[in-house]
Amino acid sequence: MLVSAKDMLNKAKAGKYAVGQFNINNLEWTKAILLTAEELKSPVILGVSEGAGKYMCGYTTIVGMVNGMINELGITVPVALHLDHGSYEGAKKCIEAGFSSVMFDGSHYPIDENIAKTKELVETAGALGISVEAEVGAIGGEEDGVVGNGEVADPDECKMIADLGVTMLAAGIGNIHGKYPANWAGLNFDVLAQISEKTADMPLVLHGGTGIPAEMIQKAISLGVSKINVNTECQLAFAEATRKYVEAGKDLEGKGFDPRKLLAPGFEAIKATVKEKMELFGSVGKA
Ligand code: 13P
Repeated sequence: MLVSAKDMLNKAKAGKYAVGQFNINNLEWTKAILLTAEELKSPVILGVSEGAGKYMCGYTTIVGMVNGMINELGITVPVALHLDHGSYEGAKKCIEAGFSSVMFDGSHYPIDENIAKTKELVETAGALGISVEAEVGAIGGEEDGVVGNGEVADPDECKMIADLGVTMLAAGIGNIHGKYPANWAGLNFDVLAQISEKTADMPLVLHGGTGIPAEMIQKAISLGVSKINVNTECQLAFAEATRKYVEAGKDLEGKGFDPRKLLAPGFEAIKATVKEKMELFGSVGKA
C-alpha cells in the first residue's frame, strides 16, 4: 500500500538521514527502485514529473502500475508515490488519481500567490492524508520543461510557507537539476542553516541530487535535509549500460534483441545507482 511521505520524513529528520526520491519513467525504472528499496529495507519515494506522467499514459495508469508492483513483488517497505514539481492543476489531478504525496512548485509565483495556492492544496491533500511538498526559491537548470533560474531561497519566506502545515519544504540553495557545471559554486550552507533554524522540525528537501559530492550531501543532511531527489543519475546509468550492450553487439547475438535482455543491463545499472544513493543518504535498514 502506498503511504504518505510524512512519517518516513519525520523519522529521517529525527534520525539525521535522508530518504531518496527517485524519479520514474517506465516499468523498468519503477521495478528497479522498488526492488532495491526492499532489498535494503529502505523507505523510498517514487517521483513523477508532469512530463513523465504524460509519457506513462497519465496519473491513473501510474497509480495502477505502482500499486500492482507493490502487491506482485511483495514490497513491504514504505513507498510514497509523489508528484515532482507539480503545477496547481497537476497536484489536484494526482490527489484525485491516488498519489500519496504531491509537490506544488509555486516558486515562480510572487510569494503571496505561492502561499495562497500552497495553503489550499495543504487543506485538500491534508484531509485525505496526502503529504505536500512546497518550494521557495527556484532550483536551477531544467527538468522536463520546468526551468528554474537558481534563485536562493529567503529564510523568512521559507518560514511563512512551512507554517502553512506543509509536510516538507524544498528550498533553493544553489542546487541545480541535471549535471553540475565545472564552475558550480556549491551548495549555500549558510542559507541552509538559516532555513533550518527558522523552520525547526520541517523536513527539508534537496533537489538536484545528481552529482553533488558525498561530503556536501552529508553536510546538508546534518543541517536538516531529510529528502534528496535523484533523477538524471539513473538516466545516465541506464543510458551508459544500454549503450555498452549495443556497442558490444550483444543485441545481435542469439536472442539479445529480446527487450527483456536488451533492457536488463540498464535495469541493473539503475539498481546499483539507487543502492549507492540509499547507502550515502543513510536510509538503509530504516524501513
Ligand atoms: P537531478 O536530475 O539533478 O538528479 O534532480 C532531480 C530532482 O531534483 C527532481 O526533482
